[in-house]
Amino acid sequence: MKKTLIVTSVISALLVGAASARAAEAAELWTKNCAACHGKEGAGKAKLGTKDLSVAAKQDSFSDEKLFTELKDGMKDSDGKVRMKPFAAKLSDADLKALVAYVRTLKK
Ligand code: HEC
Repeated sequence: MKKTLIVTSVISALLVGAASARAAEAAELWTKNCAACHGKEGAGKAKLGTKDLSVAAKQDSFSDEKLFTELKDGMKDSDGKVRMKPFAAKLSDADLKALVAYVRTLKK
């Protein structure tokens, strides 16, 4: 009983550690690859036409799957103008998934 408790706490401590390491990594990926256009906090830049990602309505306008595909393959306007270049060659699927999760943390 006592042993089970110790094992359980060690495992959960490891899991929490891994999750926060991944969150820190995602924040770094955001700073390196995304913040230039979206701002450190995701507030957006009027000149570039990036929208405020802290706004719930904006967050609700795309699914995780849609964002993942847009990051991987790029995002174009309805008139075909490139808005975001594809990150497929630069970032792994795991990195892109971590970034999708990170984007959700920007919601206020
Ligand atoms: C060269 C500038 C640029 C870079 C770099 C960039 N974006 Fe974007 N992003 C845009 C523009 C422009 C749009 C379209 C306007 C909008 O929805 O804010 C956009 C849209 C988005 C959206 C909204 C998607 C939707 O369907 O509405 C999200 C979320 C996003 N970007 C996340 C990211 C992430 C994560 C990264 C880094 C991996 C990144 N962006 C890198 C310019 C950029």
